[in-house]
Amino acid sequence: MEITSGPPPACLADYAGLARTVLPPDVWDYLDGGSGAEVTLGGNRSALDRVGVLPRVLTGVTTPRLRTRLLGRDYAMPVGVAPMAYQRLVHPDGEPALATAAREAGVPYLASVLGSTPIEQVTATGADVWFQLYWLRHRSVVSDLLARVRAAGCRALVVTVDVPVLGRRLRDLRNAFRLPPELVPANLPGGRDDLAHGGTPGVTPLSASHDAAFTPALTWADLRWLRERWELPLVVKGILDPADAVRAVDVGAQAVVVSNHGGRQLDGAPASATMLPEVVAAVGGRCEVLLDSGIRGGVDVLRALAMGADGALVGRPMLWALAVGGRRAAGAALTLLADELRDALALAGCADPAAARALRTVQVG
Ligand code: FNR
Ligand code: LAC
Repeated sequence: MEITSGPPPACLADYAGLARTVLPPDVWDYLDGGSGAEVTLGGNRSALDRVGVLPRVLTGVTTPRLRTRLLGRDYAMPVGVAPMAYQRLVHPDGEPALATAAREAGVPYLASVLGSTPIEQVTATGADVWFQLYWLRHRSVVSDLLARVRAAGCRALVVTVDVPVLGRRLRDLRNAFRLPPELVPANLPGGRDDLAHGGTPGVTPLSASHDAAFTPALTWADLRWLRERWELPLVVKGILDPADAVRAVDVGAQAVVVSNHGGRQLDGAPASATMLPEVVAAVGGRCEVLLDSGIRGGVDVLRALAMGADGALVGRPMLWALAVGGRRAAGAALTLLADELRDALALAGCADPAAARALRTVQVG
């Protein structure tokens, strides 16, 4: 059920309230929830709220420009749609709808290996697609998948490294959450049977269904193996320790995503915003740095830039909007985010994202 009446959302959080009214409670919990006591989930928000950005005045900026280069390509703003699994769970149009909204907004769409639509149908939207990989148990399946996503026209590979096993999602456990049988990982030739990351066996039907497919035994050597087989940009997502960011650069990553998976993996991990400045300092400009986990508006993107990030990924808000009104609402949410970022840059006296990276931040509250 889509929402077509009422005043338009004034901020991304407004989509959450609407999404909650259209989604079944267990699906809402799967989206909204984190792992364990959800301390890290809450910490993402409170850490961002404590980042005070010092605005510059009398800079003569009228309308800031948002255009940004990421991974050597030009985008409309320093924002991407975070990779998220099984988007048909929230709306029948699923991945192609969100990818189309990203194309119209001029931002990259990160397609999850656990997408519920074949990757060829996602790239057929004309979106700028970065393919996100969880390591599959069999290297031959990884190799085949790399060839397939290259042929489909994906621009970059994003390897997510913070899911050796799926975090313990207590809401999913209590709801006995399971995917509807018609939802399958459409990019895996054997469907659910190809999944190899351990999950925590038996913890939830969802993680149990992942048991067969992803391997927790991944090491830096595997990343090197991958680097040798993928000539386009490589992004490593799920980094919190600056030492790991440096290792990723040494292996040949063009970007790292400082992320705790939106508080869905290690509960007790610090907020990604807390670790961002150290990661930026450690890599010293040798790779691009993106931030996700808790980004909820233009001011958060400004905060990320001011702490030295090159851009930010937005997760749950895109699923809220997709649930509320498919491609149209997802597009409206991205337009709203661009408007907010333009306002935030103007208020901070910045002509463009590069100027924002020269702003100072202070801890507040
Ligand atoms: C995710 N995330 C995720 N990450 C990834 O690399 N591959 C995936 O398949 C998924 N799937 C997924 C499903 C759902 C429902 C959510 C909410 C998240 C994590 C995602 O890419 C991102 O790191 C976080 O969502 C960012 O935090 P916010 O913006 O949701 O707070
Ligand atoms: C999640 C996995 C699928 O966070 O990435 O649910």
